[in-house]
Amino acid sequence: MIRAGIIGYGYWGPNIVRNLHALDSAKVEVVCDKSASALARVRKAFPDVKTCSDPAEIFNSPTIDAVAIITPVWTHYELAKKALENGKHVFVEKPFTSCASQAEELIELAARKKLTIMVDHTFLFTGAVRKIRELTESGVLGNLYYYDSLRVNLGLFQHDVSVIWDLAPHDLSIMDHLIKGHPEAVVATGEKHLNGKEDIAFITLYFPNNVIAHINVNWLSPVKIRMTLIGGQKKMLVWNDIVADEKIRIYDKGVQIQSGEGLRDLLVSYRSGDMWAPQVEQLEALRVELDYFTDCIQNSKAPFNDGHAGLRVVRMLEAAERSIQKRGELIKL
Ligand SMILES: NC(=O)c1ccc[n+]([C@@H]2O[C@H](COP(=O)([O-])OP(=O)(O)OC[C@H]3O[C@@H](n4cnc5c(N)ncnc54)[C@H](O)[C@@H]3O)[C@@H](O)[C@H]2O)c1
Repeated sequence: MIRAGIIGYGYWGPNIVRNLHALDSAKVEVVCDKSASALARVRKAFPDVKTCSDPAEIFNSPTIDAVAIITPVWTHYELAKKALENGKHVFVEKPFTSCASQAEELIELAARKKLTIMVDHTFLFTGAVRKIRELTESGVLGNLYYYDSLRVNLGLFQHDVSVIWDLAPHDLSIMDHLIKGHPEAVVATGEKHLNGKEDIAFITLYFPNNVIAHINVNWLSPVKIRMTLIGGQKKMLVWNDIVADEKIRIYDKGVQIQSGEGLRDLLVSYRSGDMWAPQVEQLEALRVELDYFTDCIQNSKAPFNDGHAGLRVVRMLEAAERSIQKRGELIKL
């Protein structure tokens, strides 16, 4: 049984507490938030859980094994560092840290103390991404050509981070999980309209083997769209995360090009076969992820969404931000 302390009970924290609380492999011992009204909500929803307003109570507790950090990104480094220094395993929200050097330091500290870091890349535990990973790994899609994602909605405006640090970590972690190799370069453009931070951005990443990835993130969209196209040599798929059924549709479509001998023109043939929608697991992603977190700790396994995965995403975010500042200059990674 992993005894957990959770820091941060704002928008996302209640989901972590609810899911940890439901696991047989975990016990939510205490929830910490500096806001009294947040703690009142905890006591109402979970009368058996202790509350506190000072994270030091969690760090100094001799019974707590793991700390979940569900606070704004600029607080992650300090809180995670104190948790690790006090011998606690860490589950930390995306994005892992505000900069790569902080992530590197935490990874080194966790390795020295033989502790686990898991970064909450929730989407990797959704039925949809698990299915897409199965399709890419088993070769159903063939060699990948591109990943193209539209992740737009109205708000929620964050005070401390731009739309890139808020929404792009989802796609960057998914790409990191699905595409072989690491991106070689990033080009990004974006604009600020309301609160001095980018509220719309277009990010392009160049991966090895001609794989190109593009993300459009936007807090100023009148409609919520979560649509990703993934093109492979053998099959192409469309993932619409908003719909309840048939989230993933796989198309047996493609293009083949031959240059006929003696001919100046290319011979282009288009393949247009069946479309099908595979079954996608309906389990709550956070439940699966937190169960995996306790399993990794109990069985000394390194999670695939560990500190290194978190660091790779932070490096991509930093490069995208630098490119935006230089109006779309190519930034090598
Ligand atoms: N994985 C996901 O899909 C997902 C979704 C939403 C948010 N998040 C991430 O979760 C994190 C929190 O986001 P949110 O929207 O819940 O923020 P929020 O501002 O709604 O909540 C943060 C809470 O932390 C508390 N807090 C902040 N610093 C503290 C400290 N030092 N000690 C004790 N309490 C403290 C605040 O009082 C607040 O209640 C962010 O990193 C965000 O990116 C992840």
